[in-house]
Amino acid sequence: MSRSAHPAGPRHADVLPEGHYSAPAADLNALDEKVWSRTVTRDADGALTVGGITVARLAEEFGTPAYFLDESDFRARCRAWADAFGPDADVFYAGKAFLSRAVVRWLTEEGLNLDVCSGGELTTALDAGMPAERIAFHGNNKTVAEIERAVAAGVGRIVLDSFQEIVRVAHIAQRHGVRQRVQIRVTVGVEAHTHEFIATAHEDQKFGIALADGQAAEAVRRALSLDGLDLIGVHSHIGSQIFDMAGFEVSARRVVQLLAEIRDEHGVELPEIDLGGGLGIAYTSDDDPREPHEIAKALSDIVTRECEAAKLRTPRISVEPGRAIVGPTAFTLYEVGTIKPLEGLRTYVSVDGGMSDNIRTALYDAEYSVALVSRTSDAEPMLVRVVGKHCESGDIVVKDAFLPADLAPGDLIAVPATGAYCRSMASNYNHALRPPVVAVRDGEARVIVRRETEEDLLRLDVG
Ligand code: LLP
Repeated sequence: MSRSAHPAGPRHADVLPEGHYSAPAADLNALDEKVWSRTVTRDADGALTVGGITVARLAEEFGTPAYFLDESDFRARCRAWADAFGPDADVFYAGKAFLSRAVVRWLTEEGLNLDVCSGGELTTALDAGMPAERIAFHGNNKTVAEIERAVAAGVGRIVLDSFQEIVRVAHIAQRHGVRQRVQIRVTVGVEAHTHEFIATAHEDQKFGIALADGQAAEAVRRALSLDGLDLIGVHSHIGSQIFDMAGFEVSARRVVQLLAEIRDEHGVELPEIDLGGGLGIAYTSDDDPREPHEIAKALSDIVTRECEAAKLRTPRISVEPGRAIVGPTAFTLYEVGTIKPLEGLRTYVSVDGGMSDNIRTALYDAEYSVALVSRTSDAEPMLVRVVGKHCESGDIVVKDAFLPADLAPGDLIAVPATGAYCRSMASNYNHALRPPVVAVRDGEARVIVRRETEEDLLRLDVG
């Protein structure tokens, strides 16, 4: 009954509402390097800086809410993945996490490949100069027009996701007079969750072709029989925000078993396997992600071991990290608008964005952290829920966090680790204007995706 006993005013860590699970950090001003991008620090006045620029200047120049992306961190993460996997493997950045023409250019320069899953992503990639042979095209229901464009552009691989698509891509490739390089996406029966995995016989979801009941083997049979297709390998993606490597190990083992079956039946050793993306990042200080070199070693060890056991040549491995590359490189900057202490519960802090710029909390119950960034404060921690300005009570950005009790309207707060699946899933709900993405590097900031304007809204609304 501590709820009703607590006096009015900011809630303290010793009297938390039911269901609250973590205590405030020892120092609310500290910026945990696990969740903030690499060049983030506080300056002598206590304001957060990224790439050497303070948030006050960024807010003044670009407004809020806005995503600030640490370009040198992004590039460093690309290099870390490429170096970890080495020249005998391929890293495909998953563009669905966040894609823009600047990002495509960085990827091209840093030697990464790109996974796209729609005509829009393909157009962005090609327009910004990603060589087509470095593009993989994904999706469970690619349209005929999308397949036509991908084949005509000469993409390096199309990942086939259904029996219908095997035939569709083969016909289109033949019509273009080419043999399209393809992989078959298989569902390996591993359902991966954060911190755990559950092996299931069948996966009840829309992607891929099941290994079970010989479905994948039949897909391989058909793909090998069609002139328009050059089957180069098998693909598996087991889920997202995964920390435990066990799910990847089971997946790799099952994919290698399939390669052995293909060799036994058809006398061909497919040269490649793709183990997908899904590697987890730290959204809060409680998360403990793996480093790319650990992931690379774990995957290559298991594939090598399984191939030796099956007397197969070790295939070339590829992976498709999206979140693990871009997620930690950006934060969202908001201005505090209103502050509403709810007696016995928590304090609601409303910001100038919300579920339109970060739907992940509402959609997946995702956890985020938040910090006061325009200044430091020695005030007591207060339990807050950071909410947006949308007409919906589920419009929550950070469900459960602590901010200093002297927080005031006009303060700037920032939510780290919003580089992945925030701008790319942003919406115009309530006719919100989607925020810009600003790349910051070495003391310079430039808009790479501009803020939407009301004219943009009216332009689409043709009356
Ligand atoms: N490869 C394939 C075939 C995928 O389907 C995905 C993600 C990835 C790679 C990249 O996964 P990542 O490394 O980024 O986890 N909107 C959700 C995530 C959906 C991921 C869909 N596929 C979220 O916000 O958590």
